[in-house]
Amino acid sequence: MLHTLPHAEADFRALVRKVTMPKPTTTRRLTTEAGAPIADNQNSATAGVGGPLLLQDQHLLEKLARFNRERIPERVVHARGSGAYGYFEVTDDVTGFTRADFLSAVGRRTDLFIRFSTVADNLGGPDAARDPRGFAVKFYTEEGNYDLVGNNTPVFFIKDPLKFPDFIHSQKRDPFTGKQEPDNVWDFWAHSPEATHQITWLMGDRGIPASYRHMNGYGSHTYQWTNAAGEAFFVKYHFKTNQGIRCLDAAQGAELSGKDPNSHQTDLLQSIERGVYPSWTLYVQIMPAAEAADYRFNPFDLTKVWPHADHPLQRVGRLVLDRNPDNVFAEVEQSAFSPNNFVPGIGPSPDKMLQGRLFAYADAHRYRLGVNHTQLPVNAPKATVADNYGRDGLMASNAYDRHAKNYEPNSYSGPAQSDQPLSAPLALTGHTGTHAAPAHAKDDDFFQAGELYRLMSEDEKNRLVANIAGGLAQVSRDDVVEKNLAHFHAADPEYGKRVEAAVHELRED
Ligand code: HEM
Repeated sequence: MLHTLPHAEADFRALVRKVTMPKPTTTRRLTTEAGAPIADNQNSATAGVGGPLLLQDQHLLEKLARFNRERIPERVVHARGSGAYGYFEVTDDVTGFTRADFLSAVGRRTDLFIRFSTVADNLGGPDAARDPRGFAVKFYTEEGNYDLVGNNTPVFFIKDPLKFPDFIHSQKRDPFTGKQEPDNVWDFWAHSPEATHQITWLMGDRGIPASYRHMNGYGSHTYQWTNAAGEAFFVKYHFKTNQGIRCLDAAQGAELSGKDPNSHQTDLLQSIERGVYPSWTLYVQIMPAAEAADYRFNPFDLTKVWPHADHPLQRVGRLVLDRNPDNVFAEVEQSAFSPNNFVPGIGPSPDKMLQGRLFAYADAHRYRLGVNHTQLPVNAPKATVADNYGRDGLMASNAYDRHAKNYEPNSYSGPAQSDQPLSAPLALTGHTGTHAAPAHAKDDDFFQAGELYRLMSEDEKNRLVANIAGGLAQVSRDDVVEKNLAHFHAADPEYGKRVEAAVHELRED
């Protein structure tokens, strides 16, 4: 099942050397940050031979101080990731559903940047872990950057953003032991029946993709599209890999994590460097906005998929990755994706999770990268310019015309509002309050988990049950185990029985 590229590692090393190795001699002058020549880069200045260092050694001071500041805070989730550039090409007419300019004509191409990631571990964690994978796309459209910040899973563990920090605390390293703890992971899930569908997904075969190239991407949330006539539709995005789905089982994942923690980074880098460009076909499921209110389950519930029988996949276009970043820190670590970067014709649905994310990301970027992160080349619009009255702040680098006014409205031909809402308004009723998302006639937390289980072959079910039992059996408290077992029983009685038997067997050993 483990995919290997057709060429040997040695060939790749030779290719990289050819592209990146400098010429043996140089006429370039080594300088300080201020541009002054450096006389000696091997010996620091001392008071006499063998004496203490001199404070006047500007080069030493600057070099050490600069080095101390090389790291920025890592992402609080999705810290470990890999990026690539490419393009999106429209293959099918979707103008009946959205007026988004970059989707407005068959053949239209838009440049993009993508970042794949694992979720739970810190920077340096293994790529082949059992974990959802981030699938974040930044389309550099002529109407501004559109960020579609999805995962390789069509659903998620929770449905209210208020639970997200608790959820992530339970899945990341424990503050005392400094490592992920099955007690915390499963205790949170014991209290979150809505996670049963995503747990079934994660513990199944797709929980460890063989590489970033061999997995699908999903917008996961329901989004809103608006066409030129102002009609609204709800949509779900599906990027289907053209490389085919390939996964690792638990033993293969553990082996690869040990042998090459950077396995997925290596695979993506080498594939693109060799000209084997990975691609995905984008499909959408579309629901006319008027149908949402009476759909049999809440269509904005992130823990559920829309059955294809209700809303078939409609092809939109092709995403191709054809260029590696030149510098991982500048372009991947400093890339910033935010679900609230929409373009005209695309907007949010009332999904509470999505609404919470509309705040969380840009806030994280201001903390992690600073208020002017949008001026960094990977984040700045490429097919248009940002033109507004936001000014100054730490590391501001935008140069403005000396006559440009920094307030609005003004009488000096500064940028003015368009008066065109990006997307159609959402109809609302009721009172403010801490409400759960509304339940529709057939809503419950378990039926789709059961459907996913019943879709699996016998072998897949065996692996799923073994993966769940392997984690759950390590939990120290029986009541936490029992609560989790009840969720699998509710999804499907056979599913519940098999997990229960496997857990009991492991706990008796
Ligand atoms: C309310 C729920 C959520 C909150 C509050 C949240 C918050 C965050 C934050 C703060 C980051 C780090 C951003 C950065 O520092 O650049 C992040 C990264 C990310 N999140 Fe979420 N998240 C949520 C749910 C989700 C869901 C449902 C998905 C997928 C459907 C998702 C996909 C991602 C991805 C792909 C990244 C990495 C983006 C990158 O590559 O830079 N998140 N999230």
